[in-house]
Amino acid sequence: ADVVTRVKNLHSIVIGRWEMETWYYSPLPPEYRNLRTLYVCEFTLKFFRTRDGLERHLARNTRWCPPGREIYRKDHLAVFEVDGARNHFYCQNICYISKLFLDHKTLYYDVDPFLFYVLCEIDDWGYHFVGYFSKEKASEENYNVACILTLPPYQRKGYGKFLIALSYELSRREGIRGSPEKPLSDLGLLGYRSYWSQILIDLLMKATGPLSIEDIADRTMMKTEDIIGTLRALDLVHYHEGQHVIDLRRVEHMDLGNRGMPFDPQYLRWSPPV
Ligand code: COA
Ligand code: NA
Repeated sequence: ADVVTRVKNLHSIVIGRWEMETWYYSPLPPEYRNLRTLYVCEFTLKFFRTRDGLERHLARNTRWCPPGREIYRKDHLAVFEVDGARNHFYCQNICYISKLFLDHKTLYYDVDPFLFYVLCEIDDWGYHFVGYFSKEKASEENYNVACILTLPPYQRKGYGKFLIALSYELSRREGIRGSPEKPLSDLGLLGYRSYWSQILIDLLMKATGPLSIEDIADRTMMKTEDIIGTLRALDLVHYHEGQHVIDLRRVEHMDLGNRGMPFDPQYLRWSPPV
């Protein structure tokens, strides 16, 4: 029975100008479960069973951006902070959509304890939903990301790293070292490894004196276990007489790869709630 319920239920979803194949099962509300294609308004995230239904909605619709507060705007990119308790319906639909692309995760459909950070690309037609991450309002483990998603048509363009960079900037402003909730999906781990490696290699290349793991954690807001894990994966660290020692000569030859979509903290209008 378990196997049956896990079979993916939709073939595809339409959001904005994209139609994308879904990857996994999502426990959508029953009226949307047995469709070939689900139609989604990219501004309100309302679901429709038909293209006609979506088009009738768009003809009446007057909101061309996510709900909540715009906290970041630079060039054609914007981020909105959406409170799960205030915009229950919108955030719940984000969860249903992201489950279509997430295999393992027990998603929390009780969205009230979470904030959602929604990344949009802006053009003359409005704010187009690109991806998001959610974050617990109060995380005992100091998780700074619960769930993260870039819609498939936007993947591998650096938006994931943009969102991760934003999540660490929020941690910086809160003064708390953060880490994503575990377990990470395969793609989640690849995205984080790539982000962490870039940040650490950048920092080490600019270093002028000795750096301890604690120094690195203070500068990056990464947890020490993620720093050590990343340096190990890069084969940059060894354990010597009770200390982690980083081999800086090897750093000079590291390929930084794709630099991603630069997140620019200057354009973030956000401070922690008091
Ligand atoms: N194959 C190999 N490496 C991949 C990859 C893939 N399909 N997708 C991402 N990566 C790695 C690459 O190293 C990439 O950097 P590069 O392009 O410079 O090589 C790095 O991850 C980050 O890529 P980026 O473009 O910034 O990320 P993204 O916008 O594609 O988003 C996720 C990454 C994880 C958010 C996205 O894959 C996703 O939404 N996956 C489905 C949902 C999910 O699993 N979320 C994580 C839950 S823990
Ligand atoms: Na991907």
